[in-house]
Amino acid sequence: MAAIIIKIGGSAFSDKRTGKSFVNVVARNVAKELPKKEKVLIIQGAGHIGHSIAKKYNLSKLSNNQNGWALLRYNVEQVTNVISKAMIDKGYAPMALSASSFFKIESGQAIVKNLDILRDYLNMGFIPLMHSDAPIDSINGLSILSGDDMAVLLANRLGASKLIFGTDVDGIYDKDKRTISSILKKDLKKLSISDADTGGTIDVTGGMAGKLKQIRMAKKGVKVYIINLRKHGELKKAASGKKTGTCIS
Ligand code: IPE
Repeated sequence: MAAIIIKIGGSAFSDKRTGKSFVNVVARNVAKELPKKEKVLIIQGAGHIGHSIAKKYNLSKLSNNQNGWALLRYNVEQVTNVISKAMIDKGYAPMALSASSFFKIESGQAIVKNLDILRDYLNMGFIPLMHSDAPIDSINGLSILSGDDMAVLLANRLGASKLIFGTDVDGIYDKDKRTISSILKKDLKKLSISDADTGGTIDVTGGMAGKLKQIRMAKKGVKVYIINLRKHGELKKAASGKKTGTCIS
């Protein structure tokens, strides 16, 4: 299925150091620049609030703090609602779905079971919208699942044509802070991303280094972009295959 998957990173819609919100600008950019012809699926990250709650309540796995899990989910869903509303206002049909109903963690591995429901929504013209979540884990009870992992898994299973990661940076930087415009997947491991870019932020799922690790798992044929989603016009360029951010093929 030639779908485009967009991950709206928490770093795009929130400053992970200060908590400052960029939800409105990011929601507006997404709603204005969504591709019109292709099938689109959106995964949203947890952002500063989600990572802070995960850290505060020690939610890397079930810690018998169900109230903390509920609070995490409630707060992440507030962001989903803003993004949904911006898309509805532009005439799109986002359909917020629970990732925990599709994903499970089995023996430490995230798996996605039946995608029929997702495919049905896509075929009917809806834009499934999920956020990073807390699915059932066969060992730990519940575990945090990053939206980056979900996005790559879904891209592989659906045979997506593009996977676009929206962040607060212009792509992957070289050591002189210039954006690397294109790179092969197999060359990603040569980069030494020590997460200097996320130093000082609260990120329980690994920041840019974690993202690149996941991207390396994307199947051949899935073109991956890392773009700045706070900047107007970048999503439109990536979705239409134009040069922007870092393109990983
Ligand atoms: C974080 O998921 C999961 C939590 C619940 C903390 P992501 O890794 O997808 O979130 P962002 O994009 O960094 O905010």
